[in-house]
Amino acid sequence: MSNSDDLKKLAALRALELVVPGMRLGLGTGSTAKHFVDGLGEKCAAGLEVRCVPTSEETRKQAEGLNIPLVNLDELGGLDLTVDGADEMDACLSLIKGGGAALLREKIVAAASARMIVIADDSKLVECLGAFPLPVEVNMFAHETTAQMICEAISVNGLAGDVTLRGAESPVETDGGHYIYDCALGQIDDATSLSEEILNIPGVVEHGLFLGLATGAIIATESGLKEFGEL
Ligand code: 5RP
Repeated sequence: MSNSDDLKKLAALRALELVVPGMRLGLGTGSTAKHFVDGLGEKCAAGLEVRCVPTSEETRKQAEGLNIPLVNLDELGGLDLTVDGADEMDACLSLIKGGGAALLREKIVAAASARMIVIADDSKLVECLGAFPLPVEVNMFAHETTAQMICEAISVNGLAGDVTLRGAESPVETDGGHYIYDCALGQIDDATSLSEEILNIPGVVEHGLFLGLATGAIIATESGLKEFGEL
């Protein structure tokens, strides 16, 4: 029997097969993406030439340690492929991300990418998004006021649930210098409407709903790999 980390690695190794010389790659964040970056490091050491953009300082450090060539996204103007993990994914390839607090850069990189492939073990596959608390990245200024507005946006969408500052007494600070509020909603029936409502709040920087960004997914199960969308 495989454990969850074995499954994550299996998905990551399949995604590595999608990488071809000369690609401009977005590198995701988290324990699944870490396997992809490890494998990419081995390929680069063996002579593969790619140019990569990390989605977090954590991934930057890992990639630098593996001598993976890193570049500025602004210089590249776009990416061919981004490979990243997810906290939840439904059958339409809608995602919740941000469990690792990297959602802002992850979304910027995914949006700049022609293809975004999700890699995950099958615990991330859900019928309806929302069991995983939705992360919302907010500006530090008057963040409690912003949190109150997030609660109102949730209520307008017919939802309810605790909205809590990640890290509580010592709040987690993102790479962009913001805070994260986690919204425990249970089930999000209309993710598009919730997304728009939350993004309308001035203090909100981004949220972890990734809608229409993933183009394909590789999900590892005990009985093998399942592929979704276009790889
Ligand atoms: C980080 C993320 C991660 O991709 C997500 O949390 C999944 O992480 P893991 O691969 O460790 O399960 O969105 O912000």
